[in-house]
Amino acid sequence: MARLLAVNVGLPRDILWNDRTVHTSVWKDPVQGRRMVRRLNIDGDGQGDLAGHGGEHRAVFVYQIESYRYWEKRLGRSDFTYGQLGENFTIEGLPDDEVCVGDRYRIGSALFEVTQPRVTCYRVGIRMNEPRMAALLTSSGRPGFYLRVLQEGEVGAGDPIVKVAEGPERMTIEQINALLYLPGHPRSQLERALRIGALPAGWRASFEALLRGGAGQAGTTGNAGLSTAALTATTPGFFPLRVARIDRESLDVLSFSLEAADDRPLATPLPGQFIVLRVRPEPSGPPLYRSYSLSGPPSAERYRVSVKIEPEGRAGAYLKSRVRVGDVLDASAPRGSFVLSAGEDPVVLLSAGIGATPVLAMLHSLAATASRREVWWLHGARNRESHSFGLDVRRLVAALARGRIHVCYSRPAAGDKLGQDYDAAGHLDIATLDALAVPRDGDFYLCGPPRFLHDLIAGLATRGVPPDRIHTEIFAGLEAMTPGVVGAPPRAPHVPSDDPGSGPLISFARSGLAVHWSPSKHRSLLELAEACDVPVRWSCRTGVCHSCESGLVSGSVAYDPEPLDPPAEGNVLICCSRPRGDVVIDI
Ligand code: FES
Repeated sequence: MARLLAVNVGLPRDILWNDRTVHTSVWKDPVQGRRMVRRLNIDGDGQGDLAGHGGEHRAVFVYQIESYRYWEKRLGRSDFTYGQLGENFTIEGLPDDEVCVGDRYRIGSALFEVTQPRVTCYRVGIRMNEPRMAALLTSSGRPGFYLRVLQEGEVGAGDPIVKVAEGPERMTIEQINALLYLPGHPRSQLERALRIGALPAGWRASFEALLRGGAGQAGTTGNAGLSTAALTATTPGFFPLRVARIDRESLDVLSFSLEAADDRPLATPLPGQFIVLRVRPEPSGPPLYRSYSLSGPPSAERYRVSVKIEPEGRAGAYLKSRVRVGDVLDASAPRGSFVLSAGEDPVVLLSAGIGATPVLAMLHSLAATASRREVWWLHGARNRESHSFGLDVRRLVAALARGRIHVCYSRPAAGDKLGQDYDAAGHLDIATLDALAVPRDGDFYLCGPPRFLHDLIAGLATRGVPPDRIHTEIFAGLEAMTPGVVGAPPRAPHVPSDDPGSGPLISFARSGLAVHWSPSKHRSLLELAEACDVPVRWSCRTGVCHSCESGLVSGSVAYDPEPLDPPAEGNVLICCSRPRGDVVIDI
């Protein structure tokens, strides 16, 4: 019979790691005597990062002594102590290839249910002094598992572990772990996993995303269960586009319509996607990369980008003053996962200023297909002089069966006509949506300045709109995700002081930064991005979780270690890759 060998607890503390402070409770120590296990924690235990650990379905982490032996042999180590893998319960028996999600066990006077495998995290690598540990745990099929506390009670070392019920479908921890993190993702197994009621919402959402993303079907690349970036595979590289026409949309916005400059057909973009333009204002200077949403109807003949000419914007100034009809520009293929989803529910398109561009492409798409969906166009501009696409939008909305429009001017000019140019004076905010009784059961697509996005996202969330129905496009760089790192003040992206000045050129397109790669200074593109304070997102740092998956706009990379499941075509996992030459990355 399986047995509890040790009960280990630890509270969060700050540790120094790679010149950073990490708040973590991965260090656990065995306790003497018996301990009370409560719904969220064992007495004396805690989690440093509740986004990644802890909570009702991850109250107790379990690891097996037989896996200790495996790692001792594989890593050539003999220094392990109870709690070595960050586990609360060190146990004998219940291997990951036998324990099933939904199984129930009595230990001491407490009752538990098996919920999920360990989630991958770099902190176990810190604890083990082995950076690859997150990948090794996942790929070995020995991740360990979490328990939910069905009945609180006391436990102690030596307690027998008694199975009292078996989970449905009989899917083991090893199988569930492989289904998400390793290649393959058979649809029948995904459907089987989704029938297990004990599986937590996050895992269910990942498996549902894999099904929606075409997992197991030919031609599908990437892991849609781990990254929304995986949904839109794109071939890296630039190709020539000829400027077919230039239109002024408002005081400071110009539209450039672009056609193929050679015989190659254009890829039809998904509504909401963008292209990256490569421009070279100084013939001998470095290129600039700028991402522009496609603002026209979905087309394989012509792309339209609409560019706001900012006073300090070098790329915009170049496009306005130097680019003429007939000129050729270098462009990437359409990319990005901010795209209109199919469905029947209402669509709410929310934008301010130049943020109208991607949602305008969605409106074009809805109009082109004579959509029967309820469609709301809600837009904020300063006044008519700075209001782009006004007539186009009113025409498109009027053509829809159930189209609604509301335009706010924050500072209407004397000649601007209420009811014709705009519908209300003031800012577009969540109170506007309340006043208009905009439905809350729709899909919301937002693009605009950071403050606009922040306030509307918060307002929608407090009104009960689920996070997966709120979609945003942010071009100024994504919000960083650095789990557990504390006390690091945000800094603007910059060239590091030790830039070698030669070597492959790494361009971080959204951050507007180009720096040189030196293999002796950085082990991965992630480390280089961090040295430049480019906003990055990561968790495992070793090719498992896909948190760092980013667009590879051009160039190619080599992996070390190889990702457990490759990213989508045209994307890169920056945590475990090095450039093969010049690369452009969409961060
Ligand atoms: S951080 Fe997990 S795959 Fe890169």
